[in-house]
Amino acid sequence: MSKKTFYITTPIYYPSGNPHIGHSFCSVAADVMARYKRLSGFDVMFLTGTDEHGQKIETNAQKEGLSPKEYVDKIVSEFRKLWDLMNISNDKYIRTTDEPHKLAVQKIFRALYDKGEIYKGTYSGLYCKPCEAFWTESQLKDGKCPDCDREVEYTEEEAYFFKLSKYADKLLDLYETRADFIRPESRKNEMISFIKSGLNDLCVSRTSFSWGVPVDFDKKHVVYVWLDALTNYITALGYGSDNDSDYQKYWPADVHFVGKEIMRFHTIIWPAVLMALDLPLPKCVYGHGWLLFGDGTKMSKSKGNVVDPKVLCDRYGIDAIRYFMLREFPFGKDSNFTNEALINRINSDLANDLGNLVSRTTAMVLKYFDGKLPHDIEQSEADDELISTASLLRGKYEEQMENFQFSSALAEVWKLISRANKYIDETMPWALAKDPEKSARLSAVLYNLCEVLRIVSILIIPFMPETAPKIQKQIGATGEITTWESAKSWGLLPKEIAISKGEALFPRIDMKKELEELNLTM
Ligand code: MSP
Repeated sequence: MSKKTFYITTPIYYPSGNPHIGHSFCSVAADVMARYKRLSGFDVMFLTGTDEHGQKIETNAQKEGLSPKEYVDKIVSEFRKLWDLMNISNDKYIRTTDEPHKLAVQKIFRALYDKGEIYKGTYSGLYCKPCEAFWTESQLKDGKCPDCDREVEYTEEEAYFFKLSKYADKLLDLYETRADFIRPESRKNEMISFIKSGLNDLCVSRTSFSWGVPVDFDKKHVVYVWLDALTNYITALGYGSDNDSDYQKYWPADVHFVGKEIMRFHTIIWPAVLMALDLPLPKCVYGHGWLLFGDGTKMSKSKGNVVDPKVLCDRYGIDAIRYFMLREFPFGKDSNFTNEALINRINSDLANDLGNLVSRTTAMVLKYFDGKLPHDIEQSEADDELISTASLLRGKYEEQMENFQFSSALAEVWKLISRANKYIDETMPWALAKDPEKSARLSAVLYNLCEVLRIVSILIIPFMPETAPKIQKQIGATGEITTWESAKSWGLLPKEIAISKGEALFPRIDMKKELEELNLTM
């Protein structure tokens, strides 16, 4: 039987500056989801990429004396290096400057035009250059662009329009009949009121600059950057090319992860375009929150207040940063990024809770049994709670993951880790070790702890792909007993396991010293 497919995407990022931790947040979340689905048996397609056209890029390139393509090549290579460094396991990387994408965009534009879904008209109105968006008077906030808070200017140009207005009712109906289309639920009302306040037809071509996909039947126009960008989700699968087998296999997407400010493009324009093309709609668009600076402002390139994920990964390790981001910032909400919170998480969750559990457990097996547990083990009622917590964990974890609640999934894992640390204090292996009569009991306690580590090591694979195998190596777990399936069964570790000592997984950090150094680096 062929495997079930799972198609997940991140937004395609603007290469108008180097990637920052806000971008990494979405990419790591999508990566965790992709890894989780692969482990649980799905045939996954995970797509990310860069959105490389538009006036802003053209202007940035000019300022640096480069051609737009030279400019984006340079930044795109930074994005790709960062994703490699952070173990982002995307199956494809799309660039909107890729030739096949451009050809497919032209085909889509023409198909919409031929169907009467796109028509030629004149645009006059208020235009925000950086956002490349037209606004009506009533949409402005204090006379400025509602998205970026910058000045708008009056512009008039001949342009093509997509008949977005005719989709208002269909979109409202979509939200009502498909409860999971917009998630989290809290983002739905905003989209409904946006539509109810009146949808205008959408201007989908520009003549004021040339860095874009030319409309092939009217060359002075380039395709509006958002229409170009949104179609990446299907062109990357070969839609509109000679080989669309991936499109046939993976579309519709299971989920598009996007930041909350671009929900409107993904839940209004994108489904309307797909409806106009008579194509199936994605199953879900999930709008995640922003990472804010301590003072509550959004981290962004234009404000210059960005945190460089590479600096953090180099200092603390990739898994620590991946863990921190998904544990600290609940996926659907905005949260503050602070260096203190980062160091706290590393010290308390990683060094203290997980790191200590691994090092105490392995050190005791080495000390009391020379690394090899005796066959004879004596379980007791005192073990029941630990065992039942561990056995139920995978189910609870999956429930959270299916809802993209990464922080809660990790919290469940950490409940077991804390329970196991408490179990060490309760059972006092060091006292059992003093009495040769209690050797079988001591062996049971240590076996149970190793079994907890086995289950934990599997469930953290999606989040910490480098740490998980290190733990498995230390407890001698390989093959069948490290599969996803095995994480829901207790007692699979062979009784005579051989433990080996490994390096400390997460060294503790001196908060004061580190904060001083970080403030100098950032
Ligand atoms: N190019 C468009 C997306 C086109 S998708 C068809 C775009 N690019 S972007 O580079 O400006 O933003 C990409 C994503 O990064 C957005 O989802 C945005 O929310 C996210 N983030 C940028 N800064 C962020 C934070 N500070 N925090 C969390 N995510 C943020 O929009």
